[in-house]
Amino acid sequence: MNVITRRRVLRASLAAAAAGLGVGLYTWQVEPHWLEIVRRRLPVRGLPEALRGRTLAQLTDIHVGPRVSDAYVLETFARVKSLSPDIVVYTGDFTSYSADVYAHAERVYADPPRGRLGTCGILGNHDYGPNWAHPEIAARLADRLQAVGIRVLRNEVAEVAGLQIAGMDDLWGRQFDPVRTLAAVDHRRAAIVLSHNPDTVDRSGWTGYQGWVLSGHTHGGQCKPPLLPPPLLPVENRRYTCGEFDVSDGRMLYISRGVGHLLQVRINVRPEVTLFELERA
Ligand SMILES: [Fe+2]
Repeated sequence: MNVITRRRVLRASLAAAAAGLGVGLYTWQVEPHWLEIVRRRLPVRGLPEALRGRTLAQLTDIHVGPRVSDAYVLETFARVKSLSPDIVVYTGDFTSYSADVYAHAERVYADPPRGRLGTCGILGNHDYGPNWAHPEIAARLADRLQAVGIRVLRNEVAEVAGLQIAGMDDLWGRQFDPVRTLAAVDHRRAAIVLSHNPDTVDRSGWTGYQGWVLSGHTHGGQCKPPLLPPPLLPVENRRYTCGEFDVSDGRMLYISRGVGHLLQVRINVRPEVTLFELERA
């Protein structure tokens, strides 16, 4: 190899290394914190006139804990507050478990975004502690969240200005109970459902419900190669990545890509807060 060729090879290798480093930095330091506010319409049957044109912000999978930057979460909260949503819903995984989880959650959720008309949320598997097996951890977190104005629905229904918000408890936390939850819904009136894990729409027990189910849990897979499905998806139904799905029995599913992460890597799956505009179906 002569000197010129050697130089060219060296230059090409340096360029490749720099590009690799750039991509690495982007996927680690840029995209996980590059929040997108996704604006969508949410058509609800029988929506009360007073809620027409009102906004509902969905936050999910914030994962407050050792792996998500508090500054990023607080910036996200500030952005959501600046949108002045009428209703705010949280669809689970408020936290990632660590020994410090209660104090940490108390700090970060001291003043979370709340809706002008109402605020509620449901728990996700990570709120149930190690192996999703600790209802006592979930109960303690739920208490903390209630104290700052987030009504935590555990197979229960809240009513916000005439809109019924039915909150399913978590599937992997072994608390998902659609029969009990939907028994408290008046199906003649406007309703939406919150359910952390999108696989829940394929479980039985939904009889009588037609309308939207808002969920999270997948983080959109966090990494999505172009033209291919994301390789890591914590769901049985591999269709359920992110976005809108017609469950084809009168139910529609929306899966948000979520705010936080488990590993701090996102490729082609920016974090999301969804801002729905309510309309009459
Ligand atoms: Fe999550």
